[in-house]
Amino acid sequence: MQKKSLLCTISLLLFNLTVMAEDGSKLWMRHKPYNTAKVTIHSKSATAEIAKKELEQYYDGKSVALNIDKSLPTNGSYVISGTQNDKKISAGSDIGLLYGAYALLRNDMTQGVNQPAFGLRILNHWDNLDSSIERGYAGPSIFWNKEMRLDTARIHEYARANASIGINGTVLNNVNASPKMLSRPYLLKVKQIADILRPYGIRVYLSVNFASPMRLGGLRTADPLNTGVRQWWKKKAKEIYREVPDFGGFLVKANSEGQPGPGDYGRSHSDGANMLADAVAPFGGTIIWRSFVYGANHKGEDRVKQAVSEFESCDGKFRKNVILQSKNGPLDFQPREPYAPIFDRMQKTPQIAELQITQEYLGQSNHLVYLAPMWKEFFSFVNPKKLIGIAGVANIGDDANWCGHHFAQANWYAFGRLAWNPDLSSRNIAEEWLEQTFVRDEAILSMMLRSREACVDYMMPLGLHHIFKFDHHYGPEPDGFKADYPLEWCPVYYHQADSAGVGFDRSTKGTGATAQYPTPYCTIYDSMTTCPERYLLWFHHVPWTYRTLSGRTLWDEMQYRYNRGVKEVEDFASIWQESKKLIDPQRWQEVNEKLSIQLKDAKEWRDTCLDYFSKFATK
Ligand code: GCU
Repeated sequence: MQKKSLLCTISLLLFNLTVMAEDGSKLWMRHKPYNTAKVTIHSKSATAEIAKKELEQYYDGKSVALNIDKSLPTNGSYVISGTQNDKKISAGSDIGLLYGAYALLRNDMTQGVNQPAFGLRILNHWDNLDSSIERGYAGPSIFWNKEMRLDTARIHEYARANASIGINGTVLNNVNASPKMLSRPYLLKVKQIADILRPYGIRVYLSVNFASPMRLGGLRTADPLNTGVRQWWKKKAKEIYREVPDFGGFLVKANSEGQPGPGDYGRSHSDGANMLADAVAPFGGTIIWRSFVYGANHKGEDRVKQAVSEFESCDGKFRKNVILQSKNGPLDFQPREPYAPIFDRMQKTPQIAELQITQEYLGQSNHLVYLAPMWKEFFSFVNPKKLIGIAGVANIGDDANWCGHHFAQANWYAFGRLAWNPDLSSRNIAEEWLEQTFVRDEAILSMMLRSREACVDYMMPLGLHHIFKFDHHYGPEPDGFKADYPLEWCPVYYHQADSAGVGFDRSTKGTGATAQYPTPYCTIYDSMTTCPERYLLWFHHVPWTYRTLSGRTLWDEMQYRYNRGVKEVEDFASIWQESKKLIDPQRWQEVNEKLSIQLKDAKEWRDTCLDYFSKFATK
């Protein structure tokens, strides 16, 4: 008897702890259940049902009417009108009604027609079939594992969170794709996932391995002009569309970092992309071809120039259902890069910008770095109107809090919000997110808004780039050089520090990368004196004694910025201390621990880099 009551007490305690636990699993979807609103809707679709249920449960008002208005576009646009108690959401399609419902729940009362800036708002998961995630820092994959188990409840939550910010596509597997992805058992899983995501307006895409006809199909070649290969892909597309009729299409990393591609057969990127495009075209599918290539056809050329060199001749040669996807910067998701000139150079090819939500080079899931300001910087150079979509490399894993760091959820959120409307300010998005996830607080907000610049300062200020550790891309390694590695993986190649100065000369006197930019940027970036200091060492090899705008020498300025970065993180740590009373204990503690790691890392970056550069600077 006694034993029984002890058990009861323990389970009650455990129950209470679970109820109280604030593990971050709810993301920004923390609406209180009001169950007061009477919701009317005439559509009977699964999407409309979700909209109805969400509002019935969570809307704090009397009534909401959801109406289809044929005069509105069917791309998810919606209009919210009415009074506080009696709301009306109108949309041209059911998905618009759902987006409107989520907008209402976050109290977004933007006037007029609220419509997405980009047609494609797509997450790219770099998830492997064995459950590991390339550059994933938040636990294993939510889609794949060796047992082929699927936590459908979690996929529903994933879908719901994405729909709440307007994401309408997802690539389920790593761009370094396993050919097995296209095998029957996996395609059946894809169907299962697609069936869950569909009512939330999310289409599924897959990354494919270009050599699949050989490695999966047993053919002797994957040459895109070979009839057998073309047939193989057509048959495969048919098989996929039988299971997933609204399948989005394929994402392809070809002839890049060891991946197979058309280049293996002397064929061009357009030959490869068009062959796949023909296979999916009868079903309305799209091929998203990545421009992230280096070291194949243009070996030896400055890596940041290679995408343009390789793709420019393909412009105008792609099928209509091919889209080119390029990273925001010309190198590889560094804390700061100038925008990639390929966005200006491909005039006839529809383009998508690829942003990295997972913080591969920005402290992974240990550093608090709010990325919206970085993405806004990109949009200040590349007119969103020139793009047909935005892709974000996801930071989502199976960790309770999804993203590893509670504040990394803000980057997932901000990605979705900017993909809907790139004119939103970083501040507004952060405010919105904080209000829904934690609490609206000026100090915490300011920490978020300053965090990206702080990261640039303590890692790679003034245009420095690619000086991270080889293996895992975490932490500094300015002396990094391995004779048996390609030069373009070695930090010393990128900072080029010597007794004369530091930085990579990409001016017309150097590699000429500046010439890939249109006016006025080609001229502005080409001269040390007009080049913005944030890109100075990206484009120039600058003498240590060069006077920067502050009046300090380059070497002094570098020290100043590294120290400033560390000071910022110290300040973030004290802001967080003062916020203790505002935040639930579990999340406060977890963020606090991460901030200590961030501070330690920031100091390591500063000390290692300054120590290394001082050997040249003070000579
Ligand atoms: C980076 C990253 C790789 C990734 C690659 C890509 O180089 O480190 O893991 O595969 O980008 O975008 O294809």
